[in-house]
Amino acid sequence: MATRQGFKMKRLLVTGSYGQIGTELVGVLRDKYGGENVIATGRKKPPEILTKNGPYYRLDILDENQLQSMLVDYDIDIVIHNASVLSATAEKNPQLAYRTNVEGTYNVMEAVRILGLDQALVPSSIAAFGPSTPRENTPNDVVTRPTSIYGVTKVFVELFGEYYKLRYNVNFRSLRYPGVISSEALPGGGVTDYAVAIFYEALKEKKYECFLGPDTALPMMYMPDCTKATIDLIEAPEEKLKHRTFNVTAFSFTPSELAEEIKKHIPELEVTYKPDFRQAIADSWPMSLDDSVARDEWGWKPDYDLPAVVKDMLDKLSAKLKISY
Ligand code: SER
Repeated sequence: MATRQGFKMKRLLVTGSYGQIGTELVGVLRDKYGGENVIATGRKKPPEILTKNGPYYRLDILDENQLQSMLVDYDIDIVIHNASVLSATAEKNPQLAYRTNVEGTYNVMEAVRILGLDQALVPSSIAAFGPSTPRENTPNDVVTRPTSIYGVTKVFVELFGEYYKLRYNVNFRSLRYPGVISSEALPGGGVTDYAVAIFYEALKEKKYECFLGPDTALPMMYMPDCTKATIDLIEAPEEKLKHRTFNVTAFSFTPSELAEEIKKHIPELEVTYKPDFRQAIADSWPMSLDDSVARDEWGWKPDYDLPAVVKDMLDKLSAKLKISY
């Protein structure tokens, strides 16, 4: 087993590693903790990026025996439980969302409790908030009464994890991620997906039809900030944490503001708007987040602003798609 200055290197298992966040998070974790110490898992045959520098195993999060065997067999210390059905898909299949998001989280928390592992990090989301929450500069500690099934499952994650901390001293930690913009994997089934899709269409077609209205402001961040926030929270000293669940954000924008920023590089881009059922979900979420609790307790600070994200996304995607701009 890898050791550093006499200490056992932490071993991590990531569920849902095939998702938008997992696909990039696994690589960043492997750079930091060593490839063999980061076990990527998911239900499907993995893309090459997940098998490059470390192991990938098939895991169904609803199979608690398989989960516990894996955690013991691979000597895992920390579980990052990313497997989750996102907001738009959840709304189409609430029963699937319940099973994956609620029962999956139950299985992870139980495994961490029973096996006495070091930590469980289970993401939450801006979807934990609802229409009765103040939508501007939404505080960390405020009413969470979501009206989407995805949000309901995320409130469960937060409260169940915090209960396990209180009752069993399980080291549960959670981040309320905003929409995440990324260049490696496409997001699947979320309301904030437009903020990734627009880049592909801007390069390929020079036009994009947005499923949210032009003035729908939502909190967002770039993937490097998302992975940084995740690792910083995992590593935050326990004595500094007064909370277990943290708002994190980098900036907020509307679809028309994002389009304007992209047009600075691709002036021909034409964006039209045709809101669908995802508009109602977006309208129930915060427009901006107050993440001062994360900043105070573990030093959270994003590196990327919107102009930097747009430039970097266009550079990365134009190389990947072989389309110059
Ligand atoms: N990005 C997610 C979604 O849109 C929110 O957590 O579902």
